[in-house]
Amino acid sequence: MQTVITLAELRAARRNLPGPLGFVPTMGSLHAGHISLARRAHAECASVAASIFVNPTQFGPTEDLAKYPRDLPRDLTLLEEAGVELVWTPTPEEMYLPGFQTWVSVESLTRRLEGEARPTHFRGVTTVVAKLFNAVGPDKAYFGQKDAQQAAVIRQMVKDLNFSVEIVVCPIVREPDGLAMSSRNVYLNPEERQAATVLFRSLSAAKAAYDSGECKAESLRTLVMEIVAAEPLARLQYISCTDYDTLEELETVKGKALLSMAVYLGKTRLIDNFVIG
Ligand code: PAJ
Repeated sequence: MQTVITLAELRAARRNLPGPLGFVPTMGSLHAGHISLARRAHAECASVAASIFVNPTQFGPTEDLAKYPRDLPRDLTLLEEAGVELVWTPTPEEMYLPGFQTWVSVESLTRRLEGEARPTHFRGVTTVVAKLFNAVGPDKAYFGQKDAQQAAVIRQMVKDLNFSVEIVVCPIVREPDGLAMSSRNVYLNPEERQAATVLFRSLSAAKAAYDSGECKAESLRTLVMEIVAAEPLARLQYISCTDYDTLEELETVKGKALLSMAVYLGKTRLIDNFVIG
């Protein structure tokens, strides 16, 4: 496995990789969720590139950019074991040159849910992912269903800007008790970690209600709210039941729908979602 830092090194190394090339963009601090993307890419592509870059532009001014967990040596070992050929770890200085002023932003899809709670987040994500795609030139790029809105936004960007890359969305990898794996789980103290199962528990209850005939979105949202309210350490930021593709809030679940939520446990903000219908 080769590790490169500069754009020039990346371009030179890229030329030697056989196609089709799979690409896994990450912010590092890798866990089994990230590794599942790399393994899937390895299974489907002739070679795999990954990036590790804690992208400053997708963090809000009061968010956790400075304390975001970083462990490069461990990340590199995990990526090599997963069959990755090339890892790019760009610097913020080279990604955002002085005078940087060109942004990629997807409009209505980013206004709700995560975009409403984090107004500058998706502009940072789409801008950096566009830059990563331009530099790496992958045939397929792998994203997690964990960040369902991010995957939808990237798909829209690829379609609107004619990127010739196929977006592959992979299932959420969870801890044995159901908590979705996240680099931010390390912020939780033992009590918060236990309380964090409330995301999976409440979404499971809503799915069970749907499976036994409850189609009213409001009833599903209320059920989740009640279960989160019963967990003293948890504070619900939003629960939504939307159309899977448009992310428009639903009254009745008819086709494929997305139940998604954000919850604070102390200062840590966690997200999770289930697909129903
Ligand atoms: P990061 O949070 O590091 O996540 C990298 C990829 O791993 C994303 O596609 C995310 O959805 C996926 N992922 C995270 N947890 C997962 C889990 N439990 N199961 C399956 N997949 C999971 O998402 C980002 O970085 C950034 O926004 C990025 C796209 C790299 C742009 O900066």
